[in-house]
Amino acid sequence: MKIDVIIIGLIAALSGLYALHSTFGFLGAGAGLAVMVTYALLLKVKSKKTEEKTLFQNIRFKIPIVIIIGGAIWVLAGKFNFPVWWQIEFVSFVLVGFFFFTLLDLKTLTLEKSNFDWVKRLLATYALASGIFIGVTAQLPQFDPMLELAKLNRPPIKLSGLAGPEVIAAGRDVFENNKCFNCHKVFWEGNSDRGPNLGTKQIGLYSEDYIKEQILDPRKKQSPGFDDPKSIKAMPTYYGDDLDEDSLGALVSYLKTLRDPTHMPVEGKFGDQWTWWDDKDIVAEGQTVFEGTHPATEGLTCAVCHGKDGTPMMTGALDFRNENNTDTTKIEGDHTDKLLKDWPDDLWYRRVTRGVPNTPMAPWGMIFEHLYLWKAEAYARTFHDPLEKRTAKRPVPPVPTKEEIESWKTKEMFLDPLL
Ligand code: HEC
Ligand code: HEC
Repeated sequence: MKIDVIIIGLIAALSGLYALHSTFGFLGAGAGLAVMVTYALLLKVKSKKTEEKTLFQNIRFKIPIVIIIGGAIWVLAGKFNFPVWWQIEFVSFVLVGFFFFTLLDLKTLTLEKSNFDWVKRLLATYALASGIFIGVTAQLPQFDPMLELAKLNRPPIKLSGLAGPEVIAAGRDVFENNKCFNCHKVFWEGNSDRGPNLGTKQIGLYSEDYIKEQILDPRKKQSPGFDDPKSIKAMPTYYGDDLDEDSLGALVSYLKTLRDPTHMPVEGKFGDQWTWWDDKDIVAEGQTVFEGTHPATEGLTCAVCHGKDGTPMMTGALDFRNENNTDTTKIEGDHTDKLLKDWPDDLWYRRVTRGVPNTPMAPWGMIFEHLYLWKAEAYARTFHDPLEKRTAKRPVPPVPTKEEIESWKTKEMFLDPLL
């Protein structure tokens, strides 16, 4: 009994001192008091006669505890936005604990007969534990000091104004080293869909200023589909401190290359995504481009030739109201028989960015930013396929493969220079 009194006395004295010393002291003292009362109550509970439990009883007693603790840790880790792999790891630790405590509660071992016996047991346990530890850790990715040192000692990136392949490659390194892949996929690459897929979203269509701002101040403008409470705060705000000016410049150069000439950009969170064809904000902005009132495309008015209400103002200009219209025959070696309503995205893009030679349909993509041309296309389609009459959204295209992405370059599907 004596030792218990000493412990309670100690807690009381410490809580008292704490109460005197700190402004939060009363809270501390209150907590101390609570511990004292609990401790005293526990002492009052008569201890039952101890008897050995069977392995089965032991496990039955522990399983509900493991489920509760495991569940609580899973939910808590989720609340703190840990990736799912971490959640699994945390819960595995609980399972290891379960195994460990079950082992501890096994039947008492028979008494050792000689000194030699216990030394043998101790060494065997030590060898087994070390063996498991080394065996498991050897399977994990290894720390390579030379590699890490090389990363640290790498000379700072120098831009000297131009975004050649070296700068883009350096920018990709910045993306990798700052673990952007942990939240952002880039087409098929990356580890999780917590943030938008910067490839299918085609972040490269946006201006450098926009991309920079989204990295430095990600809370300012939420990515469409990412305005739930969990995503709003997910993107870290420290990149402004972590990235020097040249690294940021290189990173933006790399992001500017993320485009897809074969599909409309995709918005939204994985599982609930949509393309710009069905995005009412994009279509509304596209209308201003089409009608010539968008400040970013001053001088471009599709409506001058194609008509504000879709009635062509110029003979030969495509009538978007007729879904059965066909593709031009004026481009040698590039013609499709598909009706307007079935036109693939890449045909829309190619015709509007490259135009139809020797007609007033100019290669608008050489003059105006493609970001806005895609939006104008999304609007042009509404003349024969009004947004409010659609029964279903266009399916989100599959993420392009590495080979497809390579082929865009070799088939020269991008314009040079790209706007
Ligand atoms: C912990 C997760 C996480 C990390 C790490 C992260 N992001 Fe993000 N990021 C998000 C989320 C979630 C969003 C969408 C919500 C928002 O707009 O803030 C986002 C948005 C963005 C956007 C804006 C997209 C748009 O629609 O305009 C850009 C650009 C971006 N991130 C770039 C980066 C870059 C570059 C890095 C690495 C330097 C990075 N992110 C690291 C989670 C992350
Ligand atoms: C100066 C007049 C003019 C302007 C401005 C114009 N177009 Fe055209 N457009 C034409 C003409 C003429 C054709 C028909 C070309 C031909 O003879 O095949 C055409 C054809 C098209 C076609 C069909 C190409 C094909 O395969 O048949 C699309 C799509 C199109 N325009 C979209 C647009 C969009 C979107 C804009 C605005 C960004 C725009 N046009 C601006 C005159 C114009």
